[in-house]
This record gives sequence, C-alpha cells and structure tokens, in this order.
Amino acid sequence: MCAPNRSRFSFARGSVCFLRLLVLPPVFVIPFPRFSLNASPFVTAFAAPGIAGAVIGSHRIGNGLALAPMTGLTDKPFRALCRRWGAGYTVAEMTSAQPHLRGSKKSQQRSDYRGEPTPVVVQLVGNDPAQMAEAARHSVAHGAHIIDINMGCPAKKVCNAAAGSVLLADETRVALILNAVVSAVDVPITLKFRTGVSPAMRNAVRIARLAEDAGVAMLALHGRTRACGFTGNAEYETVAAVKRAVRIPVLANGDIDSPHKALCVLRETGADGVMIGRAALGQPWLFRDIAHFAAHGALPLPLTLKERLAVIDSHLAALYEFYGEAHGVRIARKHLGYYLRRLPVPENGANAENLRQQLNAAETAAAQRAMFLRFFDAVSTAVSDDTLLYPKVA
Ligand SMILES: Cc1cc2nc3c(=O)[nH]c(=O)nc-3n(C[C@H](O)[C@H](O)[C@H](O)COP(=O)(O)O)c2cc1C
Repeated sequence: MCAPNRSRFSFARGSVCFLRLLVLPPVFVIPFPRFSLNASPFVTAFAAPGIAGAVIGSHRIGNGLALAPMTGLTDKPFRALCRRWGAGYTVAEMTSAQPHLRGSKKSQQRSDYRGEPTPVVVQLVGNDPAQMAEAARHSVAHGAHIIDINMGCPAKKVCNAAAGSVLLADETRVALILNAVVSAVDVPITLKFRTGVSPAMRNAVRIARLAEDAGVAMLALHGRTRACGFTGNAEYETVAAVKRAVRIPVLANGDIDSPHKALCVLRETGADGVMIGRAALGQPWLFRDIAHFAAHGALPLPLTLKERLAVIDSHLAALYEFYGEAHGVRIARKHLGYYLRRLPVPENGANAENLRQQLNAAETAAAQRAMFLRFFDAVSTAVSDDTLLYPKVA
C-alpha cells in the first residue's frame, strides 16, 4: 500500500541527520541549473534506471517523470523550470478545441511553444469529434509534437460543456473523439483520464482498451473518478488493472508527493512512469529527487534555503519576462504561495503571516522580490536546512 504522506514538514531533526549520514555519497554535488525560458533539449542528467520510461512515437520519456498539466500554473516558465529539474515530459495547459477561443491573448500566450524542449505536448479539451480533429491539426501546424486529450478534468466550466471527465460516461463518444483525432494528424495522441465516472462506474479499463484500439500512444491515469473530484485518496488498483489490460505505456497520476511514494506507486501499478501535478508546485526539484532515489535508493541532499532562494528568484525573473511585469507579478503570487507553504513557518508565525500578506499586496516586481527576500530572511533565522528533507512515508 502506498500510504498518503501524512506530515510534510514534521520530520524530526535527529532522524534527518541520521538519514543524511546513511544516504549521502562522500562527494555530492547538487545540480543547480541556470534557468532559462528556452531550455535546451533535455539532457538525461536525471536518468532514473529504476523506472521503465515510455516511448511515444518517436519521442521517449527516458526517466518516466512527467509534469501534469495544471491550468494557470504549468505555463511555459514553470514547464521549463521542471524540465531543468528532471521532468522528462511536460504537458502544456489545456486548450479549448473551440476555434472562437483561439484568438484571445491568453490562448496566444499559452500556445507560445518557441524554444521549448521537445516534445511539445498540447492538451485539447472538447466534445465534438470534428472540432477536436480540427483543433489537433491547428495545434500541430503551430508546433505540437504530441496531442493530449483531456478526459480527466472535473471542473464545472469544462464539464458543463460536456467535455473533460464527463465524457467517460459516454464510451461511444470517447471512441469517436479518439478515432477522429488519431486520424487527423500524423503525431502521437495521448489520453489523460480518470478511473471512471464514479466509484460505482469505474470504466477505466474499457476506456483504455478503446484508446489503444483507436491508436492512442500513451495513457496517463489519475486514480480518482470524476465524482471524487480531488477528495479522498487516489487509488492505484485501477491504474494497475489498466496497465495489465493494454500494451501502450501508462503513467500513474494522483497524490504522488515524494520519491518514496513515486517508487511505491510504480511498484504497485507496474506503470511506466509517474505524472506529478500539485506536489511539483513550490518544489520543482522533486523530479530530480525521484530520479536520484530511483537510481540510488537514497534521497539526494535537500536544497539549502539559499539554493531554494536562487531557484525561486530565477522563476520570478522568468515570469516577469514571459508575462510582462504587471501580469507576471500576479502569476508569481500563486507560485510564491506554494514555495512559501513548503517552508517551515518561523517561530513567530504572526510575523510570517504579516509578511505573506504584504507579499500578496506587492504590485511591482521590485516590491514583490523585496518582500520575498524578507520572508526568506525571517525563515532562515528561524529554521535549519535539516528541516527541509522529505518526510519518510510508510
Ligand atoms: C489547479 C489545477 C489545474 C489542473 N488543470 C488541469 C488541466 O488543465 N488538464 C488536465 O488534464 N488536468 C488538470 N489538472 C489535474 C492534474 O493534471 C492532475 O491530474 C491532478 O492534479 C492529480 O495529480 P496530483 O495529485 O499529482 O496533483 C489540474 C489540477 C489542478 C490542481
């Protein structure tokens, strides 16, 4: 059983030191990448020999570590950052198949794939087979190397348009959409979906077989049903059943939040890799850690506060550059929230809360950066780097 991660930051200091002694090789250099929006093609610096990895057409996820698409979060700067820290595969934010939505500034920004490492994966959401096929052709013409179809999103806005995970209730339509998109383009098609409509209707195995028959090249399966939303714990028995039922690669997704959990889920499901969403927020180096754990059976040295600060600083710079200052500051607030949440709160929590509020109120890049440096200062005087390791999970 892959237990949920109970206490993210409550690892006792003594046991951390003990673990350090046990796991660290005598000379360990933390890869500390210089960040650039236009990441050069991913180098296999973060190979994970313990993970099967997946081949999708002519593309390969060597280390089997994928960043899940998350609207409003996994933008170009964050994808580039995760690639730098070991994600072997990233998926761009969901794009509607409806042509009238393509012209908006947001859509245009989302479809800026220039300089991204290959493969560029574009996710489409929609319910009309012909429209989905046309959107796939459009995406390929604009740089997509792989088209991912979203049948996993439970969001009301998407489901009210009878798209996303709501489609799982209509297997005939699922087959029509998949067949239409596969025949529309020459690039590989992947499917991201959930285990079913509800716990009473877990039809993921049937959907997976339909997808394989239609020519889909890879599946990513979130271990919850549509009705579950994000509640409860993800289950992996259905992911294992899907993996046994098809020959195409399967990525396991849902609640994977530490190297231990990633390896446990891989063992339990037989999946070819893992897809990680929320746990990558505020700690993009999680991919590096999983790769290291898979390769060596031990955790790497955690990033020090100073190193975290440098990663965040470069992430902020990339956001300001990509979105422009005003919009960049707004997007950065979300990411800063995740980074800060992953830090132990200093003893004087009231002060930390005060700083957090001021950080959210900052309107310019300079003010935001100054506030974030003050927050880090407060944290660094209150905690030791020893508290930053992943807690060990059962
Ligand atoms: C804020 C947010 C936005 C998301 N947006 C998308 C999306 O655009 N497309 C999609 O297929 N899944 C989306 N998801 C679902 C994730 O890709 C993933 O399947 C889910 O979060 C479970 O994985 P996790 O436990 O590793 O986060 C989103 C999830 C979150 C939390």
